[in-house]
Parts: sequence; C-alpha cells; structure tokens
Amino acid sequence: MNNNSRGGFSSKLGFIAAAAGSAVGLGNIWQFPYVAGQNGGAAFLLIYILCIFLIGLPIMVGEIAVGRNTLANPYGAYKKLGGKSWALVGLFGIICGVMILSFYNVVSGWALGYFIQIVKGDIFQETDFSAYFKNYTADFLDNLIYSIIFMLLTAFIVYKGIQKGIEGASKVLMPTLFFILIVLIIYGLTLPNAKEGVEFYLLPDFSLINPATIYSALGQAFFSLSLGMGALITYGSYIGKNDNIISSATMVTITDSLVAFLAGLMIFPLVFSQGQSPSEGPGLVFVALLGVFKSMPVLVGKFVGGSFFLLLCFAALTSTISLLEVPVAYLIDEKKWSRIKAVSVMAILIFLIGLPSMLSYGAVDFLSNFTFYEGSSKTFMDVVQDIFFVISLPLGGFLLSIFIAYKWKMNNLSAEISYGFKSYQGKGKRI
Ligand code: PHE
Repeated sequence: MNNNSRGGFSSKLGFIAAAAGSAVGLGNIWQFPYVAGQNGGAAFLLIYILCIFLIGLPIMVGEIAVGRNTLANPYGAYKKLGGKSWALVGLFGIICGVMILSFYNVVSGWALGYFIQIVKGDIFQETDFSAYFKNYTADFLDNLIYSIIFMLLTAFIVYKGIQKGIEGASKVLMPTLFFILIVLIIYGLTLPNAKEGVEFYLLPDFSLINPATIYSALGQAFFSLSLGMGALITYGSYIGKNDNIISSATMVTITDSLVAFLAGLMIFPLVFSQGQSPSEGPGLVFVALLGVFKSMPVLVGKFVGGSFFLLLCFAALTSTISLLEVPVAYLIDEKKWSRIKAVSVMAILIFLIGLPSMLSYGAVDFLSNFTFYEGSSKTFMDVVQDIFFVISLPLGGFLLSIFIAYKWKMNNLSAEISYGFKSYQGKGKRI
C-alpha cells in the first residue's frame, strides 16, 4: 500500500489492474488485429511477442522503478534523478501523452457511437459498411458528441483519484472485458470458415517479414504496453514500496499480450467467415465486423455486436484515464494545482487539440489529405500518430534505458527493485 500524500493504489492487485487497464486498449483490439492483418498475420504476431518480452518488459520494469523511487510524474522523476536537461525527456513524454490522448479520444468516440448505433439497430439497414464508416467518421456532429462524452467519462474517473477512480474502474472493467472477449471467441470459432482465419493468424509465413514489419511490431509493442512516454512512471509512483515490480510488470505484460492475441483470435475467424479481407486497415473492426454482425439473426447480431463495441469502449476507457493522469499528475506535482483544476483544464485542452484529428476523416479535405509520404496520402491523425507514437515511443524507451544505465545507474535500479524482491539485490549491475 502506498501511503504518501499524492495518493496511491490500495494493493499490488489494484496496481496490476490499473496498469493492465492502461496497456489493454484500442492498441490491442482495434489496432493490433489490423496491423497484424496487413503484415502477414502469424509472422507479425511472433515478432510482436518477441518485442513485448525482450524489449517491452525490461523497459516497463525500468519505468515503474523510476516512478516509485521518485514518487513523481515523468518530468519530476527525470528531474530528480538526472537534472534539468533530462527533465526535458520527461516533459516530452508528457507531451506525447497529450497528443496520443487527443486522437485516441476520437477513435474511442467512434467506438461509443457504433455501440449506440448497434443497440438502436438502424445500422443493420446499411448495405455498404465501408461507405458507412466513411460517412460516419466524416460526420462532425456525431463525432463531436461522442468524443465529448468519452472525454467527460475519462475526466470524471481521473478526478475521482487513484484508488476510487482509476483502480476502482479498472477492477470492474478489466474482468468484464475478458469475459466479453472469451464469449466472442467461442462464438467466432463455431462459424463456417473460422479455420481459415485461425490458420492465417497462427501459421507464420516468414517471407512477409522485412525491416518495416519489424519496426511496426516494435512500435506496436510500445504503444500497446503504454511505454515510452511515462504512463508507467506515473502509475509506478503510486505503488507500495514492498510490491514486487518484476512480478507486477510481468503480469501486466502477459495480460496485455494475451488480450492482443485473443483479440486476433476473435477477429480473424469472424472476418474469414464472411470472406472479407484481413488487410482492411483501420476500418477492420468498424467495417469487416459489421458485415459479420449483420449476417446474424437480428437479436444475436445486436447482442454480439453491442458486446463487441462495449468491450472496445471499456478497453479504451482504462487507457484514456492513464493518458490523462500523466499531465494531471504533472500539474498537481509541479504546479501545485488542485486535482479538479488539473483535470478540467487538461481534459478541455486535449479535447481541443484533438479537433483537427477528428476532422481529418473526411470532414475537412485539407486535414483528410494532409500530406503524402511512404507512398500514400496521410490524414492529420496519421501524422500525429506517426510523430507521437510510432517514432516517439520507441525513442522514449531508448532514452529511458540510456538514462537508467548511465545516469541513474544500474545499482540504484537494482536497489529499488529489491525493496519488494529481496533476492534481486546485486543483480543487473554490469553497467
Ligand atoms: N496501451 C494503450 C493501448 O494499447 C495505449 C496507450 C499508450 C495508453 C500509451 C497509455 C500510454 O491502447
């Protein structure tokens, strides 16, 4: 239990639920299947798992240890241990969190909107879900309403604080999410052609692997584990001194990769059962799955489809709260703001920063065809993702490793870890 005045998680399990909640999100259920689908399925999965355990897990341990040692937000943590110039790395992490949340909230709003449309049932009148997705994301008013609702939910939980808000919400939402996922997998596996989906997902074709695949697996691993921008420094600052960081981080990593794995196992059989393409891209869950839900008897479709989008909303919500908590902790620690002021100002600011991303899926042509690189036209949201997640998160992880090894030093890391894991003392001192 963490008793310092900044508040903290009530137990090790509370931390694991919240950190796994942060990790498990749109990255696992929306993004992982479509990125895996575009990059050859099983071969990508294998590289992804390697990146998660060989690179992600050690970096997660490092982030949590830095957070617990300093009891601070990323800026304060780097500043305490490394001085003013290293503090800039922490600050950049916070900015990445702000930018990630700005677009993440928009996609979460889509999920919420789809949930409502499915429950209402009108969506099943549609015949072309690809066109529907395009029209839907281009509709400013709908997007505006749902993303405001999503930001309000996020802000409310973060305002409630670490134990009552973040931990309480995660402890309910995470098990529910697992339950819905398992039900959908079982259902998907009973459909015709499910086997082709499973094979695509689980039999690797190594000819599809190239440097770009490896880099996208790495970026995906960082994003999915919430690494490289200080979310886990922040959550680490709320855990008890006697908690075992290594076993907690391992549990979080296993949960996260398990959910990504299961999300693929849920989606590909559904997609193949409809004869649809696994490489549909960002619309995969919004387009391909809708056809699947429509093909079911109406009530079953409503139930399965509704459950799926509810699952997506829950997963997203436990991640958006961790993203908002980072700048909020910064303002509370460094600027001595009250929690309510920090939450309100940040939520509004991030929402406004997200507007161009919201408008970049068809509403405003300039933002929708914002620029062109790597052989395709990019939306404003693509550019924000490429800068603040694809490039910055692995970079943030790299800088954290350099920081720990050469500035903070390995013996301090090992001492911090050993508070909750006595026999660890003295390990990992080689640098
Ligand atoms: N890990 C979250 C996901 O997979 C996204 C996230 C990234 C959350 C960085 C916090 C920090 O969806």
